[in-house]
Amino acid sequence: MSLHLEARVSDPTAGGLENLLSEDRRFPPSAEFAAQANASADLYSWANADRPAFWGEQARELLTWSTPFEQTLDWSDAPVARWFADGRLNAAYNAVDRHVEAGRGDKVALHFEGEGGDTRTLTYADLQREVSRAANALTSLGVTTGDRVAVYLPMIPEAVVTMLACARIGAPHSVVFGGFSAEALHSRILDAEAKLVVTADGGFRRGAASALKPAVDEALAKGAPSVEHVLVVKRTGQPVEWTEGRDVWWSDVVDTASDEHTPVDVEAEHPLFILYTSGTTGKPKGIFHTTGGYLAQAAYTHLNVFDLKAETDVYWCTADVGWITGHTYVVYGPLVNGATQVIYEGTPDTPHRGRWWEIVQKYGVTILYTAPTAIRTCMKWGEEIPAQFDLSSLRVLGSVGEPINPEAWMWYRRVVGGDRAPIVDTWWQTETGAIMISPLPGVTETKPGSAQVPLPGIAADVVDDEAHSVPDGSGGYLVLTEPWPAMLRGIWGDRQRYVDTYWSRFRGLYFAGDGAKKDEDGDIWLLGRVDDVMNVSGHRLSTTEIESALVSHPWVAEAAVVGAADETTGQAVVAFVILRGDSEAGDLPAQDVQTTLRNHVAKEIGPIAKPRQVLVVAELPKTRSGKIMRRLLRDVAENRQVGDATTLADSSVMDLIAQGLSTPA
Ligand code: WTA
Repeated sequence: MSLHLEARVSDPTAGGLENLLSEDRRFPPSAEFAAQANASADLYSWANADRPAFWGEQARELLTWSTPFEQTLDWSDAPVARWFADGRLNAAYNAVDRHVEAGRGDKVALHFEGEGGDTRTLTYADLQREVSRAANALTSLGVTTGDRVAVYLPMIPEAVVTMLACARIGAPHSVVFGGFSAEALHSRILDAEAKLVVTADGGFRRGAASALKPAVDEALAKGAPSVEHVLVVKRTGQPVEWTEGRDVWWSDVVDTASDEHTPVDVEAEHPLFILYTSGTTGKPKGIFHTTGGYLAQAAYTHLNVFDLKAETDVYWCTADVGWITGHTYVVYGPLVNGATQVIYEGTPDTPHRGRWWEIVQKYGVTILYTAPTAIRTCMKWGEEIPAQFDLSSLRVLGSVGEPINPEAWMWYRRVVGGDRAPIVDTWWQTETGAIMISPLPGVTETKPGSAQVPLPGIAADVVDDEAHSVPDGSGGYLVLTEPWPAMLRGIWGDRQRYVDTYWSRFRGLYFAGDGAKKDEDGDIWLLGRVDDVMNVSGHRLSTTEIESALVSHPWVAEAAVVGAADETTGQAVVAFVILRGDSEAGDLPAQDVQTTLRNHVAKEIGPIAKPRQVLVVAELPKTRSGKIMRRLLRDVAENRQVGDATTLADSSVMDLIAQGLSTPA
């Protein structure tokens, strides 16, 4: 593990962190911004004085409880935390109804922009009616409190409505990103034992209707005894196969349902959702979050990190609801805070490369939250594109998902933020539920490329192999040292895996899986994953999962996958495969083999997991104990001099690989 960390720290191209060690640009907050900011430096001392009490205050202040809590943190069953456990509330009530009750029903909750240019506006009152209808429909389909609902939808208002309808009846949702395959959907439906699947005929991507329903049909055909119904939104109008008795149209059951519904009161620790994420083994982990603590931290971070002014801001987070960022910073954080936000269905370059900036201009977006990979893509397209639009409304810019290299940070600040808007580089994970490490706008003097400081209420550190805190100026592993309200409560149905994955590497500390460095000021710089998890365009992918997808193909005898540094996507998937001697692939052109295997991975997992390259090799580098040395393969994939290969069982293997690759296919 430490080898991999060193490789990343010393590797000048890893994550584009070329300037990391010498970055000395500083951006203090402007006096005007600081004067109006929600957050102030006092928050740190307040939180440090009594962390659980601080969170208790936030939870009381930012949420409406049907039964107020007395307890704050209960850590007696560590590492499973209970927060505000004797309180009761409903997440959808907090996100919707209470704003209507407070007279803000006419305020826009969602400005929806379809890829084709169709739009819908939903006020908080509209959202209350829609969510109530959907909750009644879910109930009529047999879903009750505690049942799981799988959600496989495009980025349309119904995705938000469905999630809130689930929360309204206390049925945990399990959203599966629409870009995942039938296979991936199937395993997630099985693991969560979902009773209902909510999907659409399709969604619009890159100017075309892209089908979703067939993947649900295929997933269910593999056997999913828990599923009773499939609820289908009509979005594209493309033809769908229909299973009578099982499939129902949204328009038949939701649109006709009563728009009045009483939210179900749940305990603070009632599960709100499960969200699957890649781990170091092949099987995705069902990360589950509960209600009270998650919502409190979602609202608190959204308010302070983005300096949200609910009355005047127009907020836009570009994430899909299929990811944690979409859960916390499209659905729960902004809506609990009563914000007005934009949601956009499609890709940034449809129908032209200025689409995002056109949306910013059209709605007067003031807060933009996106990923470094998107910023780097826009950089590549050229700054003359955003220059054609009026971006002067923007006042806070956020980044999430992967380390942002200083050059992309500077470009974001200058070209998008007009050298004016503060950037918040926010570090967090599916597991942490909400932002953990980030500058506070108006408070922190920012540094390009660094997430810098744990938020008030959060305790993080960088430690060495022996779990000792490293001195300023040194690197190590990022750990979280105190429980926090939005922390995962486990891996669905597998407590031991939760303990083993996060709490065993360093006793009593949460191991995030990221390498990090403290600079001379003690600020934290994230260096990327130190385990077998890759980060491609901000999406987490497991090397093992892709390897098992590859070996499930009849041509492949063995496979090793690495994440190689990539200028745009941060990392890219590069696969090394050994073909079976008896397979027909040996007679095919290398190009065809590569294409077939890339498509096979897309089919097994989803297009996001498609390897950038599939390299056919005769051998894989292994230690004497048979462990594949991915570090050496990464050297090859990144066109670097191959590092120390002395621990290989057969040290000639790397020469063999190098020769094989230099032979033109
Ligand atoms: C990475 C996304 C550097 C990190 C919210 C983490 C980051 C993984 C940052 C979680 C950041 C996220 N700087 N790295 N600001 N934000 N990461 O679960 O490796 O999809 O462990 O959650 O993304 O990815 P996940």
